[in-house]
Amino acid sequence: MTPPADCFVLQPHDFWLYRRLTFPAFRGWLDTPSDPGLVAVGLRVDGASAGLALGWVADDGQATLASVFVLPEHRGQGGATALLAHWSRQAAQSGATALQATWRSGQPTTAAVEALLARAGWSAPQPRMLVVVATLGSIADAPWIRPQALPADMRILPWQAVDAEARAALRASHAENPWIAPDLVPFDHEARCEPHTSCALVWKGDVVGWVINHAVDGVLRFTCSFMHPRLQRLGRIVLLYQAAVARMPAAGFDTGMWTVPVWHPRMADFARRWMAPHATRFDETRGAGKSLAAV
Ligand SMILES: CC(C)(COP(=O)(O)OP(=O)(O)OC[C@H]1O[C@@H](n2cnc3c(N)ncnc32)[C@H](O)[C@@H]1OP(=O)(O)O)[C@@H](O)C(=O)NCCC(=O)NCCS
Repeated sequence: MTPPADCFVLQPHDFWLYRRLTFPAFRGWLDTPSDPGLVAVGLRVDGASAGLALGWVADDGQATLASVFVLPEHRGQGGATALLAHWSRQAAQSGATALQATWRSGQPTTAAVEALLARAGWSAPQPRMLVVVATLGSIADAPWIRPQALPADMRILPWQAVDAEARAALRASHAENPWIAPDLVPFDHEARCEPHTSCALVWKGDVVGWVINHAVDGVLRFTCSFMHPRLQRLGRIVLLYQAAVARMPAAGFDTGMWTVPVWHPRMADFARRWMAPHATRFDETRGAGKSLAAV
């Protein structure tokens, strides 16, 4: 067998040979090879595709390693180490000044990923998101999912039914006295949102909460949910979760995935206390980075 360190920058004509070596959600990047920021490095063993490191460099110089994968039969031979080194050099050549990656804990290869990054001099892993996966069956008995009557001054409507006037009012209210968490602004997440389950909560005529979801590989991902701070303590966000979950069967979803940023402590507490007992999976994503001064 040839040494596993046979890494090379993938050219578009190679993409089809390597696209199976990343998560389904990223394979589309290798179908339309037009993104100039894409950095794809392949690993060949005995002339055959055996591994892939895939990511991109943003205009601000931040490079994101989206996935690194080595076929099981070639693992433990330094393949990922070589892929990471080559990918990092290539990212630097494409203008990257810093690298970052996010991965999910609790996987069979989490220890390998963390060892790989540590040995390459990346920062220590930090928790980023809690990831709750639940099916309609697993949450059927969860007390927070039982439908409740809406208070008379509230209504829930599809996010796409929020009209231009209501959108302008929401922007104006936030501009006047900022109340939306910067990472949970709905306008930043609404592109390609799942239309049947993404909802807004209107209170006394104003949009005060939302749950914006996306279909990801057949699972409904609850990407961005937020409630006005004045209503957070009353647990109003569960009204939106109830509404979205109730719409899941008709929209063709049996499984939902909630990603909860750990820097929103109230939401993270809710996920740990109320969602975790009804989850089919409960783990976290972790992130790490590296300044390229040292590459
Ligand atoms: C993670 C992965 C890429 C590692 O590939 P690999 O070619 O086996 O990695 P390497 O041989 O270069 O080893 C990298 C480090 O991981 C360690 N490692 C490898 N397999 C391991 C395991 N099962 N448990 C713990 N550590 C492991 C190695 O010992 C090495 O650390 P060291 O240098 O300190 O000894 C591979 O397991 C994989 O493809 N996993 C599935 C995809 C995935 O989870 N990707 C990460 C998220 S995007």
